[in-house]
Amino acid sequence: MSKSVYVKTYGCQMNVYDSQRMQDVLAPLGYAPTDSAENADLVILNTCHIREKAVEKVYSELGRYRDLKVERAALGHEMKIAVAGCVGQAEGEEITRRMKSVDLVFGPQTYHRLPELLKQNETSGKAVIETEFSVADKFVGLAQEQVRHPTSRSVTAFLTIQEGCDKFCTFCVVPYTRGAEFSRPVVQIVEEAKKLADQGVRELTLLGQNVNAYRGPAVNGTQSRLGTLINELSQISGIQRIRYMTSHPRDMSDDLIEAHGSNPKLMPYLHLPIQSGSNRVLKAMNRGHTTEYYMKIIERLRSACPNIALTSDFIVGFPGETDAEFDETLDIIRAVNYASAFSFKYSPRPGTPAAENRRQIPEDVKSERLARLQNLVGAQQSAFNQTCVGLTLPVLIEKPGRQEGQMIGRSPYLQSVHLDIQSDALAQIVSAKILAVGPNSLSGQYTPETQQGVASI
Ligand code: 5AD
Ligand code: SF4
Repeated sequence: MSKSVYVKTYGCQMNVYDSQRMQDVLAPLGYAPTDSAENADLVILNTCHIREKAVEKVYSELGRYRDLKVERAALGHEMKIAVAGCVGQAEGEEITRRMKSVDLVFGPQTYHRLPELLKQNETSGKAVIETEFSVADKFVGLAQEQVRHPTSRSVTAFLTIQEGCDKFCTFCVVPYTRGAEFSRPVVQIVEEAKKLADQGVRELTLLGQNVNAYRGPAVNGTQSRLGTLINELSQISGIQRIRYMTSHPRDMSDDLIEAHGSNPKLMPYLHLPIQSGSNRVLKAMNRGHTTEYYMKIIERLRSACPNIALTSDFIVGFPGETDAEFDETLDIIRAVNYASAFSFKYSPRPGTPAAENRRQIPEDVKSERLARLQNLVGAQQSAFNQTCVGLTLPVLIEKPGRQEGQMIGRSPYLQSVHLDIQSDALAQIVSAKILAVGPNSLSGQYTPETQQGVASI
């Protein structure tokens, strides 16, 4: 009998990847994905715990699904509710204690067992909680069937190559919810990438909480680092572009920096979070490096790949951060000159060391710092987009535009580019002269006669 599953995804790209894999795992049981909870037989909330009132948001969302479940039951339809992801991992039984309508709770490392968990729930009629850490088992489980047949509905795809984190930044919950670092074996990744390429994927984004800490077993018994893996993946003919995220400055190994210089499929756009520009704050965050070290890495990347553009994450209002220390963060932003950045107010995460710190920063100070930082980054982002005007950039065509005869693609710098071009250009990389910058995208002119190549920034 055919059933439907609605997966609501919060948080990072890895959750997006996980949600797709959940759908793949459920497909053999007859579950088809649907984009509304209203008629779904199974609703899965794939949750995120990284910032703000994540847990409370999940409970209020669950309240709404409980009401829907009651309404549906009155009409004779059963609806199951599952909580997945990092809130599921962190809260475990507490969820089913507070929300009796929840049928399943599982963490990021156990969703490959979904069919079994659903069955357990059916036979016992009781809520099932599964929050073991078995990341290696997960990928083996997935590799046996679903990851070999991943489904992708577009020309770009995420591919998880590494999970977990051993860094223990003092603000971060990830090492507790995702567990220790684990790297998938090279063959598994290559096989998944080939399948995606066969389905028409042209651009891969390799995912990991600490993706450049990748150390996966290779066939010859050695350990492969990320640069080597990227070079191997770029041998797959369908794969035209490769990106990776999120990286840690301490793991920018030589082979990776070299790959930025020598591998044309590796996009010249790197997300390399520094979080703060103050050495004292970096130390208190347990980041394990200084601003000088970070600047050195940027210098090496720029000399390997002169047109590389950079993005970062920043946290403002980390406990004890002074005005002068915050100013140092603005200084590093000026020194690097970013193409874009994500910035957040520090949010105490239960169980992390920084949450216990008594020098918490008042909310209004955090808001004021965030606004100043975002102004600066916004100006840099606009300036970066303006420098693209007049350049000819390779654009990977991803989807139709709003008007007939228009398509939307992406530049190497992840900017959306609107072009007048026929729909048969879908999934092709074409040259486009950038004409103008809009609020959220660029517009360009298709220039068939120009050689493809990444212009200099
Ligand atoms: N408060 C605010 N921001 C956080 N991040 C991680 N934990 C916290 C927290 N407790 C941010 C970091 C990280 C990004 C994914 O989220 O900047 O790089
Ligand atoms: Fe969190 Fe730090 Fe690990 Fe990134 S490196 S996931 S910020 S602990």
